[in-house]
Amino acid sequence: MDTLSGKVAVITGAASGIGRACAIALARRGTSVVVADIDGQGAGSTATEITASGGAATAAWLRTPTSFPTIGGLLSAVLYAVPKQASSAPGADPRTRGTTLMRKIDLPELDQAAFTAKYGPWAIIAGASEGTGACYAEQLAAMGINLVLVSRRKEALDALGLRLQDQYGIEYRSLTADLTEAGAGGRLVEATADLDIGLYISNAGADGAGNSFFGAPVERSLRLLTMNAANVLEASHGFGNRFLARGKGGIVIMSSGAGLGGQPWLVMYSATKAFELNFVESLWAELDGQNVDIVGIAAPIMDTPTLRRATEGLGMDYSMAYDPADVCALALANLGKEPLVLVPDGPDEAKIPQLQADRKSRLVALAEWGKAYTAAAGA
Ligand SMILES: NC(=O)c1ccc[n+]([C@@H]2O[C@H](COP(=O)([O-])OP(=O)(O)OC[C@H]3O[C@@H](n4cnc5c(N)ncnc54)[C@H](OP(=O)(O)O)[C@@H]3O)[C@@H](O)[C@H]2O)c1
Repeated sequence: MDTLSGKVAVITGAASGIGRACAIALARRGTSVVVADIDGQGAGSTATEITASGGAATAAWLRTPTSFPTIGGLLSAVLYAVPKQASSAPGADPRTRGTTLMRKIDLPELDQAAFTAKYGPWAIIAGASEGTGACYAEQLAAMGINLVLVSRRKEALDALGLRLQDQYGIEYRSLTADLTEAGAGGRLVEATADLDIGLYISNAGADGAGNSFFGAPVERSLRLLTMNAANVLEASHGFGNRFLARGKGGIVIMSSGAGLGGQPWLVMYSATKAFELNFVESLWAELDGQNVDIVGIAAPIMDTPTLRRATEGLGMDYSMAYDPADVCALALANLGKEPLVLVPDGPDEAKIPQLQADRKSRLVALAEWGKAYTAAAGA
């Protein structure tokens, strides 16, 4: 079977059943696999499973000839897989992992030893069982950081935790919580009082696409508000005070480009994501000089299981989505540097780098004014 290592294999009908099993078996033997199927979501999840365990896989959604030529989709997936195999060393480095067809980010370097010393030995990820949360878990585990994994599904957390424990020799604890419930943020702080946590990541926070604010019960909006505002606030307050007392630590808040302005049919999502961006900016300035860092990410569209579920049947072109592993790596690399990372996406994406620079200049100016005002008031 060694002759299969380093080769590219295209497997059609690989979203489930025998095709899926073949794809996984070949990937285990070092083959770079193109997981092709008319079930794009299934192909994506097979490819994600393979890449999560260190293999190289590319999903190819065999769409109908009217939306995209099937053969063209397959060819582009193969072309993407071929250059990947040369650099695809199995492991957690998102720059070398095989991935599904997605937009990529040129990532800055991260000093892993310095990162671990400042933000280890334990990290807590709220919303860790899949998608970006699992990417954060993988990247932190690869640096040797122990993990508290939080979500609603204990089996999914334990499956991930056990794999990371096996693969990287880390310790993990799984915590079941519904973050849309009042008080859940504070309970995360209490439930980890015995652990030396140096990093809190607020990840869970998505909302289904196309919600009408007036058409849905107000309780639905209130639950999203609780998850994305009240519980983020509670956990940041609790963990932030712990970090200040121990003299070091960090907070990462996953916001969204939807928080950069209003977005119809995602009213509460957009509003709560704007809360997160402003919350992070203000805290970044207040934490200055105390060796405790915070960064907020205005994340772009990313190919996660939540996105796939939310857009099922809408004919979305997932090749326009970013690789969630890249976005997580970008966030971790910017902790202790930038207040916000705005990832270029959306109708005005060319303006995003300037917007990030403008927001930072405004924040720095306000922080200077705040310091001068406080000094004058104290004098
Ligand atoms: N995907 C995108 O295109 C996109 C774009 C911009 C911003 N973002 C932001 O990036 C973050 C992650 O997005 P995502 O697409 O990975 O999906 P997500 O649904 O926000 O996060 C998935 C993770 O959160 C957990 N989770 C979801 N609801 C929860 C709840 N009520 N209580 C506890 N855990 C919960 C899920 O596990 P369980 O199911 O086990 O609970 C899973 O581990 C979110 O903050 C989102 O707003 C995403």
